Amino acid sequence: MEFNVKSGNPEKQRTACLIIGVSQPRKLSRAGRQIDKMSDGFLSTIIRRGDMDGKLGQTRVLHNVPGTLSDRVLLVGCGKDKDLNEKTYLKILDSLSAALDNLGAMEAYSYLTDINIKGRTIDWKVNQTVMQMEKNRYHCEQLKRQKNEAPKGIRKLVMNVPSRRELNIGEQAIQQGNAISSGVSLAKDLGNLPGNICPPTYLAEQARRLEKTFPPVVVEILEEEDMKELEMGSFLSVSAGSRQPAKLISLEYHGGPSDQKPIVLVGKGVTFDSGGISLKPGASMDEMKYDMCGAASVLGTISAVAEMQLPLNVVGIIPATENMPDGLATRPGDIVTSMSGLTIEILNTDAEGRLILCDALTYAEKFDPDVVIDIATLTGACIVALGRNPSAVLGNHSPLVNDLIGAGKQIEDKVWELPLWDEYQDQLKSNFADIANIGGREAGTITAACFLSRFTKKYKWAHLDIAGTAWVSGDNKGATGRPVPLLTQYILDQLEEK
Ligand code: BES
Ligand code: MN
Ligand code: ZN
Repeated sequence: MEFNVKSGNPEKQRTACLIIGVSQPRKLSRAGRQIDKMSDGFLSTIIRRGDMDGKLGQTRVLHNVPGTLSDRVLLVGCGKDKDLNEKTYLKILDSLSAALDNLGAMEAYSYLTDINIKGRTIDWKVNQTVMQMEKNRYHCEQLKRQKNEAPKGIRKLVMNVPSRRELNIGEQAIQQGNAISSGVSLAKDLGNLPGNICPPTYLAEQARRLEKTFPPVVVEILEEEDMKELEMGSFLSVSAGSRQPAKLISLEYHGGPSDQKPIVLVGKGVTFDSGGISLKPGASMDEMKYDMCGAASVLGTISAVAEMQLPLNVVGIIPATENMPDGLATRPGDIVTSMSGLTIEILNTDAEGRLILCDALTYAEKFDPDVVIDIATLTGACIVALGRNPSAVLGNHSPLVNDLIGAGKQIEDKVWELPLWDEYQDQLKSNFADIANIGGREAGTITAACFLSRFTKKYKWAHLDIAGTAWVSGDNKGATGRPVPLLTQYILDQLEEK
């Protein structure tokens, strides 16, 4: 879909559809009042008759509204003014999006960007509009031979900005919204693909595709022999049970000066997690195809950053493997040596994410990072602790953690901090090795992060557990593309600081 910003009076817009907000009870927005005046009270009459109360989610299409140059006027209910906030704004956009899908119009001009949301400027509203429209238009059709009929609906949406002075920031917000949306859509596509179609090799091919599309992206792919040479005994203990070759993918985006330290993103890429010898129960095991959503978010973020041609350096590292039971698979009780030299007693082969991440985190040192952020569908315990709204964040550097929390708030892709206190480290004690790979039933998300923290002492680091946010289950099941918006916003914020 194409987006645009313009500034002007509603009655002067020659468009297939004017979009006007109505708040509760029966209150026209400023653009609405302007149209009402030009049409001798046409809108207020309709509202007085009770056909449009302004309730959140309500929509009405009007044809032949006098005094306008547009074919239709679409009234969108915005709820009570006092209830307006980020959440309700997104709901308004959802109902707009659904209403536009059912119109014959090919383009529309929206005044919903005029709605006042406390603390939010025009660029936020434009950016959210772009992302929400694109989000609602996403369908996973990659593997359907019978594609759904292309839904009708508009091709182009113009958003109003208060004056010509805001045209520039509006256009920039559109550009960012578009780049983030394509990153989200890439992450969703990859997340939704099943394990048989998206093994580690497929993720490597996707990295190569980004390298072809964006010249500043350089990709390197390490094979299992290379990892043996690097002594990544922990990572290789997970791939040992899989017939699919593991890959260690790195993508370097060079947008900034060559001496500028990169932001390094490390994404868990378990293309299917059966649990290994500690086999998972059967119920919902299909969802473990999503266990590479951390990797997908790294690819999506690199794509967004490259599309915006941001002037800084970003590195993506993806340890990609399957976790399968097999004669050669790692057994519970096995002890392996990680690339860092620490030995690990593997008490549960289903705690495999940390085993591949720890070697990838040691590998990250070679990029001399400014900061390292890892992203992983790491623990079911995260869903128990926080549910499915925020991702969890833990780290060894509070300014970094706070930057991530702030970026998440800004772009509506929230994270919430859990404590990474030393007290929890004791749960990882092992009688036979330096560290055990599980910490018992309690505080599972925290002890998983404690495990990673043993490998991240040389740099500023934060860990995002996206187990509850990377996908949704049920009738509308599918990958969400989170936390691509959060990561991209964080990177944009760093740019502003520099
Ligand atoms: N990929 C899973 C975590 C997961 C499970 C995410 C369910 C979302 C939904 C991870 O590899 C795993 O199996 N973790 C174990 C750790 C445990 C053995 C300490 C878990 O959460 O049960
Ligand atoms: Mn597992
Ligand atoms: Zn897993």
